Amino acid sequence: MAPLFLFFLSFCGLMPVALCVPPIWTQPEQVHISYPGVKGSMVITWTTFDKTDSMVEYNLWGGKLFTQSAKGISTLFVDGGTEKRKLYIHRVTLSDLRPGSTYVYHCGSEEGWSDLFYFTALNESASFSPRFALFGDMGNENPQSLARLQKETQAGMYDAILHIGDFAYDMHEDNGRIGDEFMKQIESIAAYVPYMTCPGNHEWAYNFSHYRNRFSMPGQTESLWYSWNIGSAHIISFSTEVYFYLEYGLDLLFEQYKWLQSDLEEANKPENRAIRPWIITMAHRPMYCSDDDHDDCTKFESFVRLGRNDTKPPAPGLEDLFYQHGVDLELWAHEHTYERLWPVYNYKVYNGSTDEPYVNPKAPVHIITGSAGCREKHDGFIPKPRDWSAFRSTDYGYTRMHLINTTHIYLEQVSDDQSGKVIDSITLIKDVHGPEAWR
Ligand SMILES: *[C@@H]1O[C@H](CO)[C@@H](O)[C@H](O)[C@H]1NC(C)=O
Ligand SMILES: *[C@@H]1O[C@H](CO)[C@@H](O)[C@H](O)[C@H]1NC(C)=O
Ligand SMILES: *[C@@H]1O[C@H](CO)[C@@H](O)[C@H](O)[C@H]1NC(C)=O
Ligand SMILES: *[C@@H]1O[C@H](CO)[C@@H](O)[C@H](O)[C@H]1NC(C)=O
Ligand SMILES: *[C@@H]1O[C@H](CO)[C@@H](O)[C@H](O)[C@H]1NC(C)=O
Repeated sequence: MAPLFLFFLSFCGLMPVALCVPPIWTQPEQVHISYPGVKGSMVITWTTFDKTDSMVEYNLWGGKLFTQSAKGISTLFVDGGTEKRKLYIHRVTLSDLRPGSTYVYHCGSEEGWSDLFYFTALNESASFSPRFALFGDMGNENPQSLARLQKETQAGMYDAILHIGDFAYDMHEDNGRIGDEFMKQIESIAAYVPYMTCPGNHEWAYNFSHYRNRFSMPGQTESLWYSWNIGSAHIISFSTEVYFYLEYGLDLLFEQYKWLQSDLEEANKPENRAIRPWIITMAHRPMYCSDDDHDDCTKFESFVRLGRNDTKPPAPGLEDLFYQHGVDLELWAHEHTYERLWPVYNYKVYNGSTDEPYVNPKAPVHIITGSAGCREKHDGFIPKPRDWSAFRSTDYGYTRMHLINTTHIYLEQVSDDQSGKVIDSITLIKDVHGPEAWR
């Protein structure tokens, strides 16, 4: 008895007995899924605290349970904090999925299985009209929009979720336990639809290692930058943080820029653009905003927009690159507000027409949606916005995007403060895509 008693005493310290439950180290938790950009596939990712096998058992919805199984691998992730906590991150790729079919799955190993979840394999047809929820800046504390997103996601309202940086506040805190808690919180959405991400400034610790280890985005860049296709869109996710955390390597900035150039060139080829005419970018820190917090976007010489000339060599910005390749829509977060811009390039508004600014606009359209809810609460706006600012709100909430077809995208802003009310909406209509559209 004595040694066991001592073990619990040392493990639990002076915690009340009811809270003193040692974790089951082989039990899967923090389940989430992502689309790896390969037809008929889905990646399932989860965590255990001991090494176990990595298995997913699954079957078509309504069929006999667990008739199919797939194996993957785990990687050891050691948190950078003082405790050097060990996490085993498991990844299993399901392939040969039937597009548009719903699957039931659980994951784990013979030493412990997760709850049951379900997802719908992506319909990979370019004529598919996917629906998204998108937002940034959602934390472990005060994740205000999460309850609404849970219900809507589980009810099948979305085909994918885009989380535009800043998770948990912050994943590395308390020796990574805040990251664990957050990943458990979002399981209720992220285990059901592809949860696609980009890094934000709150992921900075230990060279973004929590972000790079916990997510499983397409490509070989540890989720830092990648692109994928869905419906008639090519979606590019990248890191704005390479412009700010130079101590992790200026070469990363140039590597990403070169990749962006080649990815955009490829996506903009007439034969590709004919099939997927929409090019949409997502990244954390915007080029424009009318917040009052002195962030990069409040400055005319935004690093993200114009680049940096205090580096050797100078670092190119992104506004010209995106404009030259005819990017249609740019999604951002970081500001804890919602802001929609008129079509804008180089601080100048290029409405399609005054009556219908979003019908054949002559410049990219920017949406900033970073108010999902976190412990830092809201940001504020400057009293008088510039003429490129079309709509602003400080309500907590998120954005819905419906990619209707090759010419129409519908966007709306949901206010969680106002019980889910839609407080803003636009339809972006383009008969011509690519740089030709600007003429
Ligand atoms: C995919 O979406 C397209 C367009 O809505 C539809 O015609 C097609 O039947 C869908 N495919 C599947 C397998 O559901
Ligand atoms: C930070 O991580 C990136 C991506 O893995 C790597 O290329 C870079 O060398 C790292 N920087 C430092 C200073 O360790
Ligand atoms: C360099 O950047 C600074 C601030 O971003 C700007 O004020 C300055 O005009 C730039 N200099 C050159 C030579 O481009
Ligand atoms: C763009 O269109 C909006 C809506 O009609 C209008 O309020 C704004 O003044 C226009 N901006 C310019 C520069 O034409
Ligand atoms: C796209 O959908 C809109 C709205 O339903 C419709 O008016 C338009 O004709 C469609 N465009 C194409 C190319 O099918």
